[in-house]
Amino acid sequence: MLVRHAIFPVAGLGTRFLPATKALPKEMLPIVDKPLVQYAVEEAYAAGIRQMIFVTGRHKRAIEDHFDLTFELEDALEKSNKADLLALVRAVKPDDMDCVFVRQPKALGLGHAVLCGRHVVGDHPFAVLLPDDLMIGTPPVLAQMVAQFEAKRASIIAVQEVPAEHTRRYGIVAGNAAGERLVDITRIVEKPAAEVAPSRLGVAGRYVLTPRVFDEIANQTRGVGGEIQLTDGIAGLLKHEKVFAYRYDGKRYDCGSKEGFLQANVELALASPELGPEFRAWLKALKI
Ligand code: G1P
Repeated sequence: MLVRHAIFPVAGLGTRFLPATKALPKEMLPIVDKPLVQYAVEEAYAAGIRQMIFVTGRHKRAIEDHFDLTFELEDALEKSNKADLLALVRAVKPDDMDCVFVRQPKALGLGHAVLCGRHVVGDHPFAVLLPDDLMIGTPPVLAQMVAQFEAKRASIIAVQEVPAEHTRRYGIVAGNAAGERLVDITRIVEKPAAEVAPSRLGVAGRYVLTPRVFDEIANQTRGVGGEIQLTDGIAGLLKHEKVFAYRYDGKRYDCGSKEGFLQANVELALASPELGPEFRAWLKALKI
């Protein structure tokens, strides 16, 4: 197993969800009954990753608490014989999973956040998961990407087609087809306008990267939005190594937006064996 570490940049302010995120980290907002960040951690775990590195900031204590032992709760559930709930609580952090919390003292951008995890990752390949992007796939999207990484021994970036009017929201890649789902990247640009976008292949929030990218990020000056961009670090990496874009098999919900967050809640509730049937009937009765 080559990819053992995952970085979760979770220091963002979550201003789009105010006032909900005034005291609550946006990554703790639930989709049905599970916080967003837990979906990303489960996806990394399913890809064989055991060390989870959270790049946090002030007001993010709830994330640390969530992945910690909750002794009083577990004790109470044990004493009241609530075995199902106890298993649910304990499954949040399996025994073989290690959580590390690193601070990003200033919001200097996604590339800078990733760089904050460097001393924990060391000289190994690693994954980056942006919890705002909820990815549903079978096998899970990051597991698909790790398999590609193992086959190609090169960085793999998740991409999807985006409408021309949305290129400004994404890192956009261009390159040459290298198989059914892979593109050998020749260019990557952060948030270009539609007129100058080199393609409509937008980066989704999943990356498997070689450690050389750390040096490349460290060499970047501030990019789009005055921030140190991960995309620019990857553009630097391209000068030395092959990087592939991977059209993942699955569905992405942009839970950084209210629309995506609501869509994820509705679709995952409909897919839930426990809630689905009644929820579907209720939605139908709305006659919208
Ligand atoms: C970040 C990246 C961007 C990527 C996007 C995916 O942007 O900088 O390249 O396409 O995530 O969600 P953000 O959404 O944080 O502005």
